[in-house]
Amino acid sequence: MPIPRHGRLALLATAAAGVVVAASVAVIGTADAASTLGASAAQTGRYFGAAIAAGKLGDSTYTGILNREFNAVTPENEMKWDATEPSQGRFTYTNGDRILNQGISMGAKIRGHALLWHQQQPSWAQGLSGSALRNAAINHVTQVATHYKGKIYAWDVVNEAFADGGSGGRRDSNLQRTGNDWIEAAFRAARAADPNAKLCYNDYNTDGVNAKSTGVYNMVRDFKSRGVPIDCVGFQSHLGTSIPGDYQANLQRFADLGVEVQITELDVAQGGNQANIYAAVTRACVAVSRCGGITVWGIRDSDSWRTGENPLLFDSSGNKKAAYTSVLNALNAGGPTNPTTPVTTTPTGNPPSGACAASVSLNSWNGGFVATVRVTAGSAAVNGWTVSLALPSGSAVTSTWNATGSGSTGTISFRNVSYNGQIPAGGYTEFGFQGTGAGPGTASCTAG
Ligand code: XIL
Repeated sequence: MPIPRHGRLALLATAAAGVVVAASVAVIGTADAASTLGASAAQTGRYFGAAIAAGKLGDSTYTGILNREFNAVTPENEMKWDATEPSQGRFTYTNGDRILNQGISMGAKIRGHALLWHQQQPSWAQGLSGSALRNAAINHVTQVATHYKGKIYAWDVVNEAFADGGSGGRRDSNLQRTGNDWIEAAFRAARAADPNAKLCYNDYNTDGVNAKSTGVYNMVRDFKSRGVPIDCVGFQSHLGTSIPGDYQANLQRFADLGVEVQITELDVAQGGNQANIYAAVTRACVAVSRCGGITVWGIRDSDSWRTGENPLLFDSSGNKKAAYTSVLNALNAGGPTNPTTPVTTTPTGNPPSGACAASVSLNSWNGGFVATVRVTAGSAAVNGWTVSLALPSGSAVTSTWNATGSGSTGTISFRNVSYNGQIPAGGYTEFGFQGTGAGPGTASCTAG
């Protein structure tokens, strides 16, 4: 009895793929692995960000690392209530806008932080209560979210509203005393002001499964069931010398509620385990498909709010620490999620024999994008390929993986690298690149 057609193809494909896998293993992790935090995270569609301070943007060591390594930024203090509304109804955005413009110039995602919080309130708000405070708080959310409308990837709408300890309930604060519904009122106001920003709840000591994180979990589940707009939960992850054993499981249970999870303020006390803890956090995010990215709370140890704990990825001179390398390796081990090794699918008969086709999928935000390009062989194997695409004017490629680009602007040719030039009949491979500006619409492929 003849072997059915699809069975024969599967056998051939397995044999061909086996050869290529062996070749690719030696290459990934060396020359072709992404070499910065942002580019490595982008390989799996994630971002890697830092909290930054407007007052440090004149420090060239600081901005050198920032521009090189990161593709997301959070203002460390500049968008907080005391900074943006120092007297009631008078809004000042000078420093917040500095952070915003720095982020835009990098093509980075900008996390807004934080619209409402019991700390860093202006003194006039600290003196209010009842409906006067509620109205002032909602007005604050509306005004600030409107000022930054369309420019913010995700807002920490409410920060640190749950109590520490075993109660699982809300923290007492002047905002909480305006009524338990203050959080949902804030989220509704933020959605109305900026419908395109993801809206996050952000907190600390919620990094494992515990009473506090379960309190937050129950709130998010309730919001989802009642249609209160919430898109993401931030886990600050200010860690000491250990990480909760259920860190990843905790992220996953929130993700399973249908929200994005983000590591928003990561820093880890320097001790024997610092590099390992950083790696464990990174692996956990990469393993949870709804984990959008990681932000570290500062760049160099000397920039940290945790004075003396040296909790960051760069030392005070700006050198990479062991923790940096462990994060980079963990990001590169996680990606690309998209196959680097040609994978065989059932031939479609299209494109024609000996030819290849290219299709682009874009993940874009205001000011930047990540493009994933799939190169598909027709009914004959392809031995070498070049994909050509035109970037819109004003756009530029900042990093590329699994291909070599001819330049960074205009019409760019991307050539296969050593391990993905051969694509079996009906198979495909994928490469990607990150850029500033708008992404390309279409691509064309030439085989050979
Ligand atoms: C910190 C800043 O890093 C400091 O510069 C500032 O003096 C106090 O706030 N949780 C948060 C952040 O959500 O906003 C805090 O940032 C750190 C704890």
